[in-house]
Amino acid sequence: MLTQKLQDALNEQINREFFSEYLYLAMSAYFESVELEGFANYFNVQAQEEHFHAMKMFNFVHDKGGRVYLKALPEPKNEYQSVIGTIEESLEHERFITESINKLMDIAIKENDHSVISFLKWYVDEQVEEEATLTKLVAKMKMINGEGLGLLTIDTELLSRKFDLAAEKAGA
Ligand code: FEO
Repeated sequence: MLTQKLQDALNEQINREFFSEYLYLAMSAYFESVELEGFANYFNVQAQEEHFHAMKMFNFVHDKGGRVYLKALPEPKNEYQSVIGTIEESLEHERFITESINKLMDIAIKENDHSVISFLKWYVDEQVEEEATLTKLVAKMKMINGEGLGLLTIDTELLSRKFDLAAEKAGA
């Protein structure tokens, strides 16, 4: 069983993970519109990962005998001014998600629910990776001034990113 407080907080986080999926799809669409296929692919894969994050929590709530209530998703930002600015915004978003996972963990600790604490550790670790990957990408983009041949090279590199459900589950 989950306390009402924890169930509500987990439902809020499920909504944020689905919103992350939506936001990254919007970013992917922007990159498609400026013919940067690698960046479009990167954010498409990122969106699939966010779907996995949401569903992992969705299933957990039910495993715990709780109930998922889906809420409306806000409209994501669709227009972006630059490649580097978009990446920086995704990093900002991940920092916000890290904060919300930390707050969720605080509630689980307060409610003394060890199974939720254990479950959320995966998300705590995942956020470290999420922020690190984007921080490196922002740094690389700054090195090349976000343009020119450097931009095309990074775009080509990002084309190879794939969503691997088996690997995600193995790390679960
Ligand atoms: Fe599910 Fe990117 O945090």
